[in-house]
Amino acid sequence: MNILITGGTGLIGRRLCADLLRQGHQLTVLSRQPGEVVRRCGAGVKAIDSLDAYTPDCVFDAVINLAGEPIIGARWTDARKARLRESRIFLTECLVQKMREARVKPAVLLSGSAIGFYGDSGDERIDETRAAGGDFGAQLCVDWEAAALSAARDGIRVVLLRTGVVLDTEGGALTKMLLPFRLGLGGKIGNGQQWMSWIHYQDYVGLISVLLQDQRISGSVNMVAPGAVTNTEFTQALAAQLHRPALLTTPAWALKLAMGEMAMLLTGGQHVLPARAQRAGFQFRYPKIQGALADLLSAR
Ligand SMILES: NC(=O)c1ccc[n+]([C@@H]2O[C@H](COP(=O)([O-])OP(=O)(O)OC[C@H]3O[C@@H](n4cnc5c(N)ncnc54)[C@H](OP(=O)(O)O)[C@@H]3O)[C@@H](O)[C@H]2O)c1
Repeated sequence: MNILITGGTGLIGRRLCADLLRQGHQLTVLSRQPGEVVRRCGAGVKAIDSLDAYTPDCVFDAVINLAGEPIIGARWTDARKARLRESRIFLTECLVQKMREARVKPAVLLSGSAIGFYGDSGDERIDETRAAGGDFGAQLCVDWEAAALSAARDGIRVVLLRTGVVLDTEGGALTKMLLPFRLGLGGKIGNGQQWMSWIHYQDYVGLISVLLQDQRISGSVNMVAPGAVTNTEFTQALAAQLHRPALLTTPAWALKLAMGEMAMLLTGGQHVLPARAQRAGFQFRYPKIQGALADLLSAR
């Protein structure tokens, strides 16, 4: 397939490009740093630095849309909230417009979203039919998904990637936790009862390949492993894998003080089930957290 990828230089995108190249696909990556694309995404990947390069004559069989300003980082000021929204929603609107104008339209758009769509939802077990939450993160996902879904009006199959915490040692949440845990300074957050729905990056890219090919699947898909854990369970599994103690607790109030509204990403959570992936017959290589962490960390 000839595939256009936005956000291809990111954590998920790099893993995805490697996997898709291995399968023999031709890739074009939209990046603000086109000179970095071959180094990050692989030899033979074409770079474009603007959607202006997506002219009506371009033929892409599929589009994968992952770009977006990092959610975790500086405080969610009004300016940063605007960047979080614009880098996803506006970019997706422009992308869909280009797909619409193409003489040969892509068959499928796989477009980013997150399990933050559901908001902080306590112990409720959540499949794809659950309604959206009401906080900033949820509204961001609702609007991001709506921008992508408008491509369905042009007969394009649209799949919304409601992504959980992607576990990888090349970046992302796990990498940030490794140093404090290795120093024996890791521990649970708040009361530790909040759920964490995660996925090993290999299962993520494996599931993407299924979603690219399986024409029966459209709409939202929870990109999470079946074995969601509470924050306490995750803390214990990570500490055990690293053979370190994890006795400390970071109080929720301290995180709120340090991070403001963004602290909800750590003090809240959701217990998400990969209902549609499993109905489609997808077999997770790493369904449980212990196996995923052992694979990622045992050789390190
Ligand atoms: N990783 C996770 O655990 C996780 C969980 C839930 C949802 N997601 C979502 O899945 C998507 C991919 O995740 P990721 O972890 O691979 O993200 P990432 O490593 O932060 O990469 C995202 C890519 O988006 C582009 N980008 C960043 N800021 C941008 C901006 N202001 N305007 C336009 N493009 C911008 C960058 O590409 P260039 O620098 O090349 O332009 C970057 O490589 C993201 O949208 C993320 O929110 C990820």
